[in-house]
Amino acid sequence: MFALLDRCPHKGGPLSQGIVFGTSVACPLHNWTIGLDDGCARGADEGCTPRFACKVEDGRVLLDPVELATVATDEA
Ligand code: FES
Repeated sequence: MFALLDRCPHKGGPLSQGIVFGTSVACPLHNWTIGLDDGCARGADEGCTPRFACKVEDGRVLLDPVELATVATDEA
Protein backbone atom coordinates (compact mmCIF):
# COMPACT_ATOMS: atom_id res chain seq x y z
CA MET A 1 0.00 0.00 0.00
CA PHE A 2 1.30 3.46 -0.82
CA ALA A 3 0.29 7.10 -1.21
CA LEU A 4 1.36 9.52 -3.94
CA LEU A 5 2.77 12.99 -3.50
CA ASP A 6 0.15 15.53 -4.56
CA ARG A 7 2.28 16.82 -7.39
CA CYS A 8 2.11 15.90 -11.06
CA PRO A 9 5.43 14.80 -12.62
CA HIS A 10 4.80 17.21 -15.51
CA LYS A 11 4.67 20.69 -13.95
CA GLY A 12 3.55 20.04 -10.40
CA GLY A 13 -0.21 20.13 -10.81
CA PRO A 14 -2.32 19.05 -7.80
CA LEU A 15 -3.26 15.44 -8.54
CA SER A 16 -5.71 15.50 -5.62
CA GLN A 17 -7.84 17.89 -7.69
CA GLY A 18 -7.84 15.60 -10.73
CA ILE A 19 -10.52 13.25 -11.93
CA VAL A 20 -10.00 9.60 -11.01
CA PHE A 21 -11.02 7.02 -13.58
CA GLY A 22 -10.27 3.32 -13.27
CA THR A 23 -6.77 3.05 -11.79
CA SER A 24 -5.59 6.46 -13.02
CA VAL A 25 -6.02 10.17 -12.30
CA ALA A 26 -6.16 12.95 -14.91
CA CYS A 27 -4.10 15.95 -13.82
CA PRO A 28 -6.30 19.07 -13.76
CA LEU A 29 -3.67 21.32 -15.36
CA HIS A 30 -2.75 19.67 -18.67
CA ASN A 31 -4.64 16.38 -18.49
CA TRP A 32 -1.71 13.99 -18.21
CA THR A 33 -2.84 10.58 -17.03
CA ILE A 34 -1.02 9.30 -13.94
CA GLY A 35 -1.34 5.67 -12.88
CA LEU A 36 -2.50 5.25 -9.30
CA ASP A 37 -0.81 1.85 -9.16
CA ASP A 38 2.71 3.22 -9.69
CA GLY A 39 2.52 7.05 -9.84
CA CYS A 40 3.88 7.14 -13.40
CA ALA A 41 2.61 8.95 -16.49
CA ARG A 42 0.79 6.91 -19.10
CA GLY A 43 0.94 7.04 -22.88
CA ALA A 44 3.63 9.14 -24.53
CA ASP A 45 4.19 11.24 -21.38
CA GLU A 46 7.10 10.43 -19.08
CA GLY A 47 7.79 10.86 -15.37
CA CYS A 48 6.64 9.58 -12.01
CA THR A 49 5.48 11.26 -8.84
CA PRO A 50 7.08 10.05 -5.57
CA ARG A 51 5.38 7.27 -3.63
CA PHE A 52 5.17 6.89 0.13
CA ALA A 53 4.60 3.71 2.09
CA CYS A 54 1.44 3.84 4.18
CA LYS A 55 -0.77 1.60 6.27
CA VAL A 56 -4.25 1.75 7.71
CA GLU A 57 -4.74 1.24 11.45
CA ASP A 58 -8.08 1.68 13.20
CA GLY A 59 -9.46 3.47 10.15
CA ARG A 60 -6.60 5.99 9.98
CA VAL A 61 -4.06 6.23 7.16
CA LEU A 62 -0.55 6.38 8.61
CA LEU A 63 2.54 7.64 6.76
CA ASP A 64 6.20 7.50 7.78
CA PRO A 65 7.02 11.13 8.71
CA VAL A 66 10.74 10.70 7.90
CA GLU A 67 10.05 9.31 4.43
CA LEU A 68 7.40 11.94 3.80
CA ALA A 69 9.67 14.83 4.84
CA THR A 70 12.67 13.51 2.90
CA VAL A 71 10.96 12.74 -0.39
CA ALA A 72 8.69 15.78 -0.36
CA THR A 73 11.65 18.07 0.40
CA ASP A 74 13.92 16.51 -2.24
CA GLU A 75 11.30 16.83 -4.97
CA ALA A 76 10.14 20.36 -4.11
S1 FES B 1 1.07 19.70 -14.45
FE1 FES B 1 -0.01 17.85 -14.63
S2 FES B 1 -0.30 17.60 -16.72
FE2 FES B 1 0.84 19.42 -16.57
